[in-house]
Amino acid sequence: MCGIVGYVGPRSVKDVVLNGLRKLEYRGYDSAGIAVLDDGKVKIVKAVGRLVNLEGKLESHPVAGRVGIGHTRWATHGRPSDDNAHPHSDCSGRFAIVHNGIIENYLALREELVAKGHQFVSETDTEVVAHLIEDVFNGSILDTMVTIGKRIRGAYALVVISKDDPDTIIVMRKASPVIVGLGNGENFVASGIPALLEYTRDVIVLDDGEMAVVRADSVECFNLEGQPIGEKETLHVTWDAQSAERGGYPHFMLKEIYEQPKAIHDTLLGRVSDDHQQVILPELKWPAGYAASIDRIHIVACGTAWHAGLVGKSVIERLARIPVEAEIGSEYRYANPIYTPGTLVVAVSQSGETADTLAAMRLAKENGLRVLAITNVVGSSVAREADEVIITQAGPEIAVASTKAYTTQLVTLYLLGVYLAQARGLLLDGDAREILEALSNLPQVAEQVLDAASQIQQFAIRYKDVEDTFFIGRGLDYAVAMEGALKLKEISYIHAEAYAAGELKHGTLALITEGVPVIALVTQTHLYDKTISNIREVAARGAYVLGLAWVGDADIHKTVDEVIYLPRTLPLLAPIASVIPLQLLAYYAASSRGNDVDKPRNLAKSVTVE
Ligand code: F6R
Repeated sequence: MCGIVGYVGPRSVKDVVLNGLRKLEYRGYDSAGIAVLDDGKVKIVKAVGRLVNLEGKLESHPVAGRVGIGHTRWATHGRPSDDNAHPHSDCSGRFAIVHNGIIENYLALREELVAKGHQFVSETDTEVVAHLIEDVFNGSILDTMVTIGKRIRGAYALVVISKDDPDTIIVMRKASPVIVGLGNGENFVASGIPALLEYTRDVIVLDDGEMAVVRADSVECFNLEGQPIGEKETLHVTWDAQSAERGGYPHFMLKEIYEQPKAIHDTLLGRVSDDHQQVILPELKWPAGYAASIDRIHIVACGTAWHAGLVGKSVIERLARIPVEAEIGSEYRYANPIYTPGTLVVAVSQSGETADTLAAMRLAKENGLRVLAITNVVGSSVAREADEVIITQAGPEIAVASTKAYTTQLVTLYLLGVYLAQARGLLLDGDAREILEALSNLPQVAEQVLDAASQIQQFAIRYKDVEDTFFIGRGLDYAVAMEGALKLKEISYIHAEAYAAGELKHGTLALITEGVPVIALVTQTHLYDKTISNIREVAARGAYVLGLAWVGDADIHKTVDEVIYLPRTLPLLAPIASVIPLQLLAYYAASSRGNDVDKPRNLAKSVTVE
């Protein structure tokens, strides 16, 4: 949440910072701002609203210099406004600071600072840090930040520039991600990799409780006591700069939907043996016999990643016969979960920075459990804190609504399910081959599903003004229905509810009236007849039913008003095929309503606050 960019070097600071913020705007878009050390002075320009407003304002308020920081905000403390936008400064205007996270004791600090005569201009928690720096500054910004670290509580990535250290950016991290990008005679700071891709792919990830002093020709890292911690590992990111561009698509979301065949292919690459007999997961450095000793699995995740976890639960239980709970991160950590020594925790997170997922996995680690992470971001907190990591190969996901991350999480969970089943001697060779061949064929399946785009677009345009929709299905179809409903809600703002098809008659059927669109998923062959009966129940009450069924299903049109035919794969793998039309439905509904698809209201990518 919130995008942070910093730059020190010979290029135009304004250009590098704005460019980086453009790539990070998906992390927050309530307001934006920039601070530059310009002619010995800290010059700050900020504007409420989208980044474009800041860009406009900079035309009449130009800034230039060698050092600068910028921020794009997702409001937590204080409504979106020019005053509440970052960077924040102190009374003397010597320091500028941007922040991602929450300073939990800001009210007490603010009272203390006001009593000392400090004047605040914003309602934010961040501004207290700027005044606190002014209050304790002793000539050394590093020493000052050590003191700040002892006074503030909460989560933060703080990035500071100071008039007294004109070629320096100070970065400090506790629980909010921040990376340093390494250049030649220039260095960068950012809260996310996409901001840097145009300039460098070599990064240092600061760990919790670390600081960095970044200059054009050096990066020095310290602990929060100010002691040097020596050289940190440099990670090389494989994403290319184009992957963070829209590439001719009107929105990142549409581009990312269309990237799914490739993302699925890349995630499978090297993970299935050529004869389709074995799953290859060298990332799982488990001791011999460990896979067979797992007696339960807790999948922890949030939002769309949790929906992937629900599919994973079904798949692993079916193939490997291990009981699996799929838990929402924010619930799990307070639910006093029951562990056995053989419990494996699987944390699923696109960003690898979701605070609730991280907290859930930390709880598991505190209880001595092994944690496997499935994440899309190398070097993310989830990746670094887990015992083992499988990286999904979706490439950067910029749109707030997750699409290709979800399908690659599913692919990874399928691979894990087969791997566990084989390790436990539960899958006959023929069955493993059938599943692995079908998995390897999924990029083509995804490609073919995309052919239905114009039919879905027409449906979406026809129904774009409805207030309520329902998504129904049984078994795996129900898990996908939940994802379809979430997608529609978050970007089109149409109310959508997912229901287990057999459960409607216990209450929700009362909401079905003439013309209400119901999207019915009918891919689970063993539940076919039951689902058809449930569809008849809504159709009889006047619903307009759009069915998603396998190509070749000759009967489905007798029950539904309209059908989207899915290219055939195994029913177990249906979620990959059936979710894509639902992503497209949400996309076209939102775009035809004129919504800002990539940046839906009130939301932000990567939820780093609890
Ligand atoms: C919805 C969406 C969110 C995320 C959730 C978890 O489209 O993107 O529900 O799935 O915030 O994010 P990650 O996967 O980064 O942990």
